[in-house]
Amino acid sequence: MIKQNIPTHIAIIMDGNGRWAKEQGLKRTAGHEKGASVVRDITTHCGNIGVKYLTLYAFSTENWNRPKLEVEFLMRLLEKYLKSELDVYLKNDVRFETIGDISKFSKSLQKTIANVKEKTAHCKSLTQVLALNYGSRDEIIRAINKGIKDGITNFTEDSLNSYLDTSSIPDVDMLIRTSGEIRLSNYLLWQCAYSEMFFTQTYWPEFTPNELDDLISDFQKRERRFGGI
Ligand code: IPE
Ligand code: IPE
Ligand code: MG
Repeated sequence: MIKQNIPTHIAIIMDGNGRWAKEQGLKRTAGHEKGASVVRDITTHCGNIGVKYLTLYAFSTENWNRPKLEVEFLMRLLEKYLKSELDVYLKNDVRFETIGDISKFSKSLQKTIANVKEKTAHCKSLTQVLALNYGSRDEIIRAINKGIKDGITNFTEDSLNSYLDTSSIPDVDMLIRTSGEIRLSNYLLWQCAYSEMFFTQTYWPEFTPNELDDLISDFQKRERRFGGI
């Protein structure tokens, strides 16, 4: 990996927590717990190498279809993670943001999210964006409905973009999915129009800063043409 041409925005579909745990003879929830510690390592690393935006798929609009106990576990884990992470964000100058419709979360979780956003609002090196109750289709529909409320009748790419949850975030340069699945699962469909895609077999709990560096090296060798020649 070279220091020039570090991707500005990396988006990751953190997948494989459950399968990793099963293979270790553990409960799926243990995979989510290990996954949360990888979030911390990868976030710190991205800050250190000069990535500006790291967008992590943590809970999709479709993940409500999981067993109630797993959903509840994920909600508790998220709250615990955010509370313990505030100091780490501050120490590493990381701003915390979210995309997705968090109004469906408990009041307490919403309060924790708002608090961490507010306390890290001044941080400048990296913005970590957690996608929470996020689905691209849901985001686009919410954007259109907000625009209509404002009286917009003809959207342009720029005006629709300004209503998306990601309005203040540049397009994705590098999309990574772990665990060997090769699909987008309703993640950042609009924002990935020209992103470079990377799929690795590694389960998220085993993903490391070293592997990320290797993927960034591959990214740096790709020629991005954006439709030109
Ligand atoms: C990703 O791991 C984490 C979330 C979706 C919350 P999974 O829980 O999807 O793990 P697998 O895909 O079942 O192994
Ligand atoms: C995508 O993973 C969502 C997150 C990583 C949060 P899933 O495991 O939910 O996706 P599918 O169901 O395999 O497509
Ligand atoms: Mg999965």
